[in-house]
Amino acid sequence: MLTITTHEPAATFAVGRTLGGLLAAGDVLCLAGDLGAGKTLLVQGIAAGLGAADDVTSPTFTILQIYDTGRLPLYHFDLYRLDRPEELDGIGFADYAGGDGVAVVEWADKFPAAMPEEHLRIEFTAGAGEADRVIGLTPAGERYRRLCEELREKC
Ligand SMILES: Nc1ncnc2c1ncn2[C@@H]1O[C@H](COP(=O)(O)OP(=O)(O)OP(=O)(O)O)[C@@H](O)[C@H]1O
Ligand SMILES: [Mg+2]
Repeated sequence: MLTITTHEPAATFAVGRTLGGLLAAGDVLCLAGDLGAGKTLLVQGIAAGLGAADDVTSPTFTILQIYDTGRLPLYHFDLYRLDRPEELDGIGFADYAGGDGVAVVEWADKFPAAMPEEHLRIEFTAGAGEADRVIGLTPAGERYRRLCEELREKC
């Protein structure tokens, strides 16, 4: 596991931006952590790292947002308001995760069985200070072990 502690929002954004530069088509990132942990901020950094021009937001009732102006399409899922895993079928989750772009899933822990076996899990936990975030990255699969090594070298 790779652990990165940030002490301000901009640092979490920067981790995302670095990660975004390393991502490849088919990558799946499963994000976990409480409300306000910093998941969306990381996704904003990832979008910047992919060179996407649009602003990443978290609209209340949008489960999937697609950003396709960057180096690769970014499929941003937020499962917070999803009640049943079957609803993922309705939005074509399986086509996006492991597809032609990068899938990033907020609240992935709600439906662990619906996630691809190989993925990078990114869990946010609180740090000592109010603006501290401990970001734990756990790779499942060789691709993601390599990705973590590359990120370790750059962070
Ligand atoms: N080190 C830090 N890293 C990330 N965010 C931080 C940090 N310190 C403070 N913050 C603040 O925490 C909040 C993170 O919000 P964000 O929307 O990214 O959370 P989230 O995990 O996506 O929440 P939700 O589950 O509601 O979608 C922001 O207001 C941000 O300014
Ligand atoms: Mg969010």
